[in-house]
Amino acid sequence: MCGIVGYVGARSACTVVVDGLRRLEYRGYDSAGVAVVADDEVRVVKRAGKLTNLAKALAELPPADRLRAAASGIGHTRWATHGAPTDRNAHPHASADGRVAVIHNGIIENFARLRDELEAAGVELASDTDSEVVAHLLAAELARTAVPVGVGAGTSGSDGGPGGDAGISGGAGAATVGDGASGAGLVAAMRAVCARLTGAFTLLAVSADEPGLVVGARRNSPLVVGVGAGEYFLASDVAAFIEHTRDAVELGQDQVVAITADGYQVTDFAGAPAPTQRYHVDWDASAAEKGGYDYFMLKEIAEQPKAVADTLRGRLTEAGEITLDEVRLSDQDLRDVDKIFIVACGTAYHAGLVAKYAIEHWTRIPCEVELASEFRYRDPVLDRSTLVVAISQSGETMDTIMALRHAKVQKARVLAISNTNGSTIPRESDAVLYTHAGPEVAVASTKAFLTQLVACYLVGLHLAQVRGIKYADEVGAVVAQLQAMPSKVDEVLATMEPVRELGRSLGSARSVLFIGRHVGYPVALEGALKLKELAYMHAEGFAAGELKHGPIALIDDGTPVICVLPSPRGRAVLHDKMISNIQEVRARGARVVAIAEEGDTAVAPHADHVVYVPRTPTLLAPLVTTVPLQVLAAEIAATRGHDVDQPRNLAKSVTVE
Ligand code: F6R
Repeated sequence: MCGIVGYVGARSACTVVVDGLRRLEYRGYDSAGVAVVADDEVRVVKRAGKLTNLAKALAELPPADRLRAAASGIGHTRWATHGAPTDRNAHPHASADGRVAVIHNGIIENFARLRDELEAAGVELASDTDSEVVAHLLAAELARTAVPVGVGAGTSGSDGGPGGDAGISGGAGAATVGDGASGAGLVAAMRAVCARLTGAFTLLAVSADEPGLVVGARRNSPLVVGVGAGEYFLASDVAAFIEHTRDAVELGQDQVVAITADGYQVTDFAGAPAPTQRYHVDWDASAAEKGGYDYFMLKEIAEQPKAVADTLRGRLTEAGEITLDEVRLSDQDLRDVDKIFIVACGTAYHAGLVAKYAIEHWTRIPCEVELASEFRYRDPVLDRSTLVVAISQSGETMDTIMALRHAKVQKARVLAISNTNGSTIPRESDAVLYTHAGPEVAVASTKAFLTQLVACYLVGLHLAQVRGIKYADEVGAVVAQLQAMPSKVDEVLATMEPVRELGRSLGSARSVLFIGRHVGYPVALEGALKLKELAYMHAEGFAAGELKHGPIALIDDGTPVICVLPSPRGRAVLHDKMISNIQEVRARGARVVAIAEEGDTAVAPHADHVVYVPRTPTLLAPLVTTVPLQVLAAEIAATRGHDVDQPRNLAKSVTVE
């Protein structure tokens, strides 16, 4: 939550930063702002509301305004935590003398004490945010240590250099980077201030006294460095600078980074050089564009066949073994696993619920699925032979990070499923399987969900194989079924017009219920979540068998009930029970929409609408049954006039607990 960008280079920092914010707006859109260093002054422009408000304010400045020419700057798009989404609470926040500006993502937990201390020293705070204290603390630290110095110790890289190797940034014309050794300058001030903060933060700062320098720091919140030619970037996510460079550097926990036009320098909070890892991003700017679709969400729904295929690619070795991406565990460790917990939030949690059916079926290991935000607070029983599977598209969801850390303290093994290379969750896990969904820009998750399902199936197969429960040919047979899924998803996508039409007719419904059994139950939950978050309607998912225990009272004349049916082949008992449940709701006036398998003739007489999806093996069915529910939610939201990509009150990457 909150997107942040920093830039130093030859172009207009303001333009680069605003363009970067546009790509990060999915992280929050309550307000946006920039600060640049122009003519030895820090200039801040910020506005409540979406980025367009900021862009308009900038466009209204005189054409010759020097702000446009500034070569270094920072920008922020906010998801409000402390303080309402107003102009005054928008970032950047400036120090009282206006010489330092700061942006922040996360929550500074000890801000109240720091604010009291600043107020006691006579500082007047201009906002209700936790973030503003950092600007004043930096200014105080700079005032205390005001000696200009040269570049100090640190891991650094430059245009031609191998990022992360020893060496000093700079060259002719290099900006001065404040030095931790002597304790002066913005870099040293940032280290000193960070050491006083508790909570989660990514911070970027600029100072009027050090033009050509942006300093960043991170703890429990994401920050990556973009390595360009004669220009460097800092951002919450590579999407912000992907149109300029695909070379990035991961920052570790509790690190401070300084960028100039000539290089970057990374140290820990004590000023010691810090190891970093450089990587190349395997998608480009076009992947993060709408590509002719009205909304990113529609584009991302359409990309699902490719995303599923990409996630499967190269997973089966010639010897018929499933491979993960990073494994810091032995096969014996996996053989010792006697219990699995899946921890995740929201849509990723629903992927985990589906995974439970597959993992228990294939491995016979008991598997529990928990909301990450609840996990550590109920003191779960964990030990060395527990495997915790953390699922997170962003890899930065704070609830999931905290659940993972709790598991590690209890000595459990952690396996991550993530879509974001270099993010915190995979970095802190013992094994990783990356989904290859590419960038997901729409706030509502679609292709990430389908690829998480695929990754979960692969993890289940891998465990079954390592433990000797499934032979290579059995694993190969399931992988072949998975490989057939992209074309089945394509088939679903080709038949969505009636679903869109249905969506348009449901725009005025007061409430929509979703029911399912077996793996159709998590699909029902996911369908309801999509509708809630996009259409702002009351929507709930239920296990179909639970309806009669209470929720059936919600059904009124005309209440739409979306029913996710299991295949009548192989799971005939479940199918029959589902038909009974449909009859129960219909008898109470429900308008029944059935999602059923092709050839399921039994359902039609009991439904007002039937959406047919291709035949699939039962456990893999969510890969096709979810898709019409995504399309339905997007269409209902659009019919109600909502912003499909940026629903109110939400942000994509939830980096606070
Ligand atoms: C819903 C949605 C969220 C996320 C959840 C977890 O459409 O996108 O429910 O699934 O916030 O996010 P990640 O997967 O990044 O941990």
